[in-house]
Amino acid sequence: MTRRARRPPEAPAPRPIPPRILVLHGPNLNLLGTRDPLIYGTTTLAEIDAELVRRGGARGAAVETLQSNHEGALVDAIQAARGRCDAIVINPGAYTHTSIALRDALEGVNLPAVEVHLSNLHAREDFRRESLVAARCVGQISGFGAQSYYLGLDAALAIVERRRAERSPDA
Ligand code: DQA
Repeated sequence: MTRRARRPPEAPAPRPIPPRILVLHGPNLNLLGTRDPLIYGTTTLAEIDAELVRRGGARGAAVETLQSNHEGALVDAIQAARGRCDAIVINPGAYTHTSIALRDALEGVNLPAVEVHLSNLHAREDFRRESLVAARCVGQISGFGAQSYYLGLDAALAIVERRRAERSPDA
């Protein structure tokens, strides 16, 4: 009887590493829910964060969130994302209009970032029209309330997925 050589079992395709998205909220966004509800809505930050984690999970992505009232803590979080996260979604709050440090941090880590705002910056006071971080982000989403964050997450995931596809077109 001849023995047929057994073919080695095919190695399972390696599981893709889930995209990891860092969502950063700047000063006073911890007050969402009660802060100027006519401008910012009534959804709390905890509700937004939970929805971001849920939506990310549904798309196979890990979402981590952080709020800080301190510019340096936000800079630290951006720096710590390098090599760990694939993209950043950031609502810098009032630091949008003042922070060269956040702009430099985004430039320094070279991660794709999406800038989001609950309110429409262009329909408010003049000083809110200028964003110092905008030029270091892929784009800006502004004026859709809590939905701005969800659109921002969608945009960040689309960027990560596109970059991965470009790197390994057959995957
Ligand atoms: C904001 C707009 C900023 O001008 C403001 O300082 C905020 C919130 C927004 O999400 O609409 O704190 O970033």
